[in-house]
Amino acid sequence: MAASEAVPYAKTGGLADVVTALAMELSRLGHRVTLLLPGYRGQTTQCVRREVMRFSIVMMETKAEVTVDEELLPVTEASHPLRVFLIRYDPYFDRPGIYQQDHHDYPDNLDRFTLFCRAVLHVLRTLTEVQGEAVDVLHLHDWQTALCSVYLRALPGQYKDLQSIKTLLTVHNLGYQGIFAAEEFGKTGLPPSLFSSSALEYYGSINCLKGGIIFADVVSTVSPTYAKEIITPEYGCGLEGVLSGRLDGILGITNGIDTKVWDPAQDSYLPARYTAENLAGKQVCKRALQEEFGLLKREVPVLGVVGRLTFQKGFDLLLEIIAELMSLDLQIVFLGSGDYELEQQLRAVQAECAENIGLHIGFDERLAHRVEAGADMLLMPSRYEPCGLSQLYSLRYGTVPIVRRTGGLADTVVPFRPSTVQSKSATGFWFTEASPDALLSMIMLALCVHKEHETWNAIMEAGMNKDLSWRRSARQYVEIYQAMAEK
Ligand code: ADP
Ligand code: GLC
Repeated sequence: MAASEAVPYAKTGGLADVVTALAMELSRLGHRVTLLLPGYRGQTTQCVRREVMRFSIVMMETKAEVTVDEELLPVTEASHPLRVFLIRYDPYFDRPGIYQQDHHDYPDNLDRFTLFCRAVLHVLRTLTEVQGEAVDVLHLHDWQTALCSVYLRALPGQYKDLQSIKTLLTVHNLGYQGIFAAEEFGKTGLPPSLFSSSALEYYGSINCLKGGIIFADVVSTVSPTYAKEIITPEYGCGLEGVLSGRLDGILGITNGIDTKVWDPAQDSYLPARYTAENLAGKQVCKRALQEEFGLLKREVPVLGVVGRLTFQKGFDLLLEIIAELMSLDLQIVFLGSGDYELEQQLRAVQAECAENIGLHIGFDERLAHRVEAGADMLLMPSRYEPCGLSQLYSLRYGTVPIVRRTGGLADTVVPFRPSTVQSKSATGFWFTEASPDALLSMIMLALCVHKEHETWNAIMEAGMNKDLSWRRSARQYVEIYQAMAEK
């Protein structure tokens, strides 16, 4: 499995959680999984690390001397640990950021991830040829690894020995495609003929994800609804034609969560722990959250928001109704980082209503757990959401999600309706239109329901008792891997 992020090594969003949790679950199911990641700065863990490979890759005029470090991550209930290879080339990866610094992408991201992809294939070659290990499937995630499938299939002569390896490309977010100027094409080392509309060319630029979608043996995404959405112009981010051009379709497998890391009964980040049967600790978490964010300790619902500050997440919709929300009896806490403009706008509204709006700009894993636990409701007004993990964490923490009905949000939240209330299956609230009014109406409905303790508790309980583990989805991936390997 190759990816640009995985906890505990590097994380900017849900991809990192998914890669590690899926790899671990596959190990538990008895499969031998190796995780290949770039060796970024500061990736210290408790495990013993040793250098296992050293080779050079020629990139234009540069000869990059790559080293590969190995670590074995213990996986509970698995017969073998998860092997992690950190692919190191310090001029590219020993930097303060993963993709960017001071809100700007690194200008050499194409060089960085081209090198990573080529190094991944080099490692596979060493494993199969020198160490005699069989590799059945290379599971790729997002544009940063998509070129692996292009190299394998478009350069069969160069990678003759790896042709039996099948590639699965999982698209986690079509909003990030790895688009670079045409002049940079030489850096990929691919023949110029591949800079064409049937391969990597996209409106005159290079598009790494497009290349991956065309050349991977199988393409999947992270929820069934997103799989359907992305073949339409509204959600395809310009790649709907390429996606719908795949005759075998796009598979949609819903993400699970690591139920050990995200468990209110065991979470050491929380000031108190709790279960669906005994919720007293959740109240302690709420008080601590109010205090930590400098809010007045009032008996009002606290709404939490955790996420990357981007257009995708619909923060602007929320900002438009903030004045109305402040006229209601509630408090909001925001945890996020990203778009500079959104950061500034949030800072401004928080400064105006500091007693009822809490804000933390930055990436803070501990706080994410504390918001998920201490809030009463979680807001996710996403314009699009391939799967979404924050709402899954909130379900598990008894924090009722209010989400836009899109992608994985639509697949994982059972909306409040007369029928779902009666069957005690409702786990949250949906609104459909991506508008401030629709969001406001749904928050107001949730606030009314919150007053009806019995109904609210049933909603919390239904969410907390949901099986959100990786077990089922990991089995679906295994079925795909097996079908691919047998082909
Ligand atoms: P996405 O991958 O689009 O960012 P997800 O909901 O799938 O959205 O996953 C987001 C993950 O990133 C969650 O684990 C969430 O807790 C975490 N996260 C997002 N923003 C922050 C932040 N500012 N601090 C800590 N964790 C964050
Ligand atoms: C992406 C998506 C998010 C998804 C995550 C993990 O970042 O935006 O919806 O949960 O990947 O698959």
